[in-house]
Amino acid sequence: MLLSSIALLMEAVVGFCSPVSKGEQKSGSETTNVQFLTERNQKRYFDYGSTEWNEPIRGVNLGGWLVLEPFITPSLFEVFRENDNSDEGIPVDEYHYTKALGPELAANRLEAHWQSWITEKDLTAIKSMGFNLVRIPIGYWAYETLSDDPYVSGHQEKYLDEAIEWASNNGLKVWVDLHGAAGSQNGFDNSGLRDSYKFQDEENLNVTRKVIHYLLDKYSRDEYVDTVIGVQLINEPLGPVLDMDKLKNDYYLENYNYLRQELGRDQIIVIHDAFQPLHYWDDFLTEDQGYWGVLVDHHHYQIFDSNQLNATFEDKLKLACSWGQDIVNESHWNVAGEFAAALTDCTKWVNGVGYKARYDGSYQKDNQGSFYIGSCENNEDFSSWSQDRKDQARHYLETQLNAFELRGGWILWTYKTENSIEWDAQKLAYNGVLPQPLDDRKFPNYCKK
Ligand SMILES: *[C@@H]1O[C@H](CO)[C@@H](O)[C@H](O)[C@H]1NC(C)=O
Ligand SMILES: *[C@@H]1O[C@H](CO)[C@@H](O)[C@H](O)[C@H]1NC(C)=O
Ligand SMILES: *[C@@H]1O[C@H](CO)[C@@H](O)[C@H](O)[C@H]1NC(C)=O
Repeated sequence: MLLSSIALLMEAVVGFCSPVSKGEQKSGSETTNVQFLTERNQKRYFDYGSTEWNEPIRGVNLGGWLVLEPFITPSLFEVFRENDNSDEGIPVDEYHYTKALGPELAANRLEAHWQSWITEKDLTAIKSMGFNLVRIPIGYWAYETLSDDPYVSGHQEKYLDEAIEWASNNGLKVWVDLHGAAGSQNGFDNSGLRDSYKFQDEENLNVTRKVIHYLLDKYSRDEYVDTVIGVQLINEPLGPVLDMDKLKNDYYLENYNYLRQELGRDQIIVIHDAFQPLHYWDDFLTEDQGYWGVLVDHHHYQIFDSNQLNATFEDKLKLACSWGQDIVNESHWNVAGEFAAALTDCTKWVNGVGYKARYDGSYQKDNQGSFYIGSCENNEDFSSWSQDRKDQARHYLETQLNAFELRGGWILWTYKTENSIEWDAQKLAYNGVLPQPLDDRKFPNYCKK
């Protein structure tokens, strides 16, 4: 999940929306495995644009499971609270959570969390909600650790593999998503280690490469490719603080060559856009240049910046439509691998432990100013939401689905949370904010190609 406003500064309110008639959605058809895999080099890869598959990706993320996020499971972090009025002393990420507990306690608590947060029943529920894919974040530390890392290591892989099996049993596809790199690729809490940006230090990069090579090798084998239809090299590398040439050559291209040349495999490689503008990747690893099977992942939020939060609702819809209009002719197939129903940043810790919310003007990070837009009171009590707010949340979500389905589809952030409504697919569906079925629409589709 994006916790930075840097990218948002780059997303101007562009594009326009004009009404088109309802009923142009393809209905979500039942699919079985295997039949949409295509031969190449006598091997197989998933053909996202094929006429047989015939539906966009309609996915959901399994956030806060194998990589902790304080806002998704605050109860794990609240036990450290010392003071009602301050978050001081509360670990801010999984690194500090495991460091605070020590290896044994951390392993005990995390095992309990991994066993209970996602079970086979969840994959069945996800299928019955109409989704066709789950994106599963996992950190490098599941496989390898740096010498002074406090992380619990070596236990997560079996949960990932179980989830892939459950997905397969339910006819769901999977993206395996390396969500945290050694040293952190973005400084977000969801990378495992907040406020660190040392992904490209040589030793760290070696460790991360070793892990992603392992994942590429494992999940491109025949036994997985029917279900795992993409491996994401790294989630949200923070372009503006990274060396972009190094990201492209020493990481994206290096892994492409490792998979295609060294291993000779056909799995789809997913690259995140590194918070660059849409179309930035149009001339990198393209089919024209002889590369293939590279899919670009764009993430979209409008709540990590005060001015975006304060934009009119109509402007927010227009921006969402423009995302869809702009991706239609990107050279790579692309999917919105994260986005949300959220129109506020009121959910506790969604900006990180201790930072509070821009929406009600209480934001506290780096003395960055925020101003009052509205109240965050009772944010997690749906019955207290005005009808207007309920309608807007649904309308915003529908608009994004329409926009992203102009190309390869979407993956909602996230499947479940302990307390949040705006970030929780289960609660959104239960409360009639997430369309059920997923192609049901209450509002006209304003997003035109
Ligand atoms: C990183 O890997 C390269 C290639 O294997 C090796 O030559 C180099 O010494 C490694 N660097 C560190 C700091 O581990
Ligand atoms: C927030 O939006 C309102 C309505 O468009 C506008 O009047 C106000 O100036 C904005 N506030 C700030 C601080 O930009
Ligand atoms: C994509 O389409 C837009 C609008 O028609 C056009 O301005 C732009 O040049 C196109 N870009 C590419 C890379 O084809």
